[in-house]
Amino acid sequence: MIWRSVAELRQAVAAWHRDGLRVALVPTMGALHEGHLALVRRGFALADRVIASVFVNPTQFGPTEDFSAYPRREAEDSAMLAEVGAHGLYMPTADEMYPAGFSTTITVGGVSEGLCGAARPGHFAGVATVVAKLLLQARPDVALFGQKDYQQLQVIRRMVRDLDLGVQIEGVPTVREADGLAMSSRNAYLTPSERAIAPGLYRTLTAMAGRLSAGAAADEQEAWGREQLQSSGFSAVDYLELRDADSLQRLDRLDRPGRLLVAARLGRARLIDNVAVVTK
Ligand code: PAF
Repeated sequence: MIWRSVAELRQAVAAWHRDGLRVALVPTMGALHEGHLALVRRGFALADRVIASVFVNPTQFGPTEDFSAYPRREAEDSAMLAEVGAHGLYMPTADEMYPAGFSTTITVGGVSEGLCGAARPGHFAGVATVVAKLLLQARPDVALFGQKDYQQLQVIRRMVRDLDLGVQIEGVPTVREADGLAMSSRNAYLTPSERAIAPGLYRTLTAMAGRLSAGAAADEQEAWGREQLQSSGFSAVDYLELRDADSLQRLDRLDRPGRLLVAARLGRARLIDNVAVVTK
């Protein structure tokens, strides 16, 4: 079942709710891979009906970013969702999402600042606004997001709490290739030689996480990690930082549950990844 309008989507979800069924929503921008399918599969454990949305949201891309190049594969996405047993797909047009005169933006303070928020001004306002709209359009009981976009997940959690949106937010662990590279639609931009370098991102994070857990200072480890990435072929490291796992405030040393987050550039791709860092 494919819905293109809010009205069709709402009708389907309302009918399930009338039958007492729980509904899960998996918001995506398409170009689906195993990471997205893991969200759908987790949705089956939490709800009776699982639906996905595919919408490449223009407002979360900066003027020099890859909005027009972003992979669009509607037919393949729809087939993959059907194969995994999803109960429906919402694919709104840009006009349905942003009708003429649209003028509202949601800005989430605190967790949106720094990290990707610094490198991509306006990005999280675009994400928060479209996710709020998707949640209000579909009115699911639970919505699922990947931990690969960890800052995004924290922004969405904060927004849902602050605006009393009344939906459970479920973060699902990152799905990785056999060599550790986090699955991402943007991995398609990597050339074969860049693809060989890319798993260094996760290797660097895991090496740092072990030493941070053992009490090493964050600034020393961050300098070591940057050096590792740059010498292995990453052209720039936008950030590589230890943060509080919940508030995303900077940590100098691990004294509570932490998250180590990175964004680095490799050819045309800007890759992000993160790992949990726990005290021993
Ligand atoms: O993570 C994504 O794919 C997007 O940022 C999201 C949450 C679907 C909003 O456009």
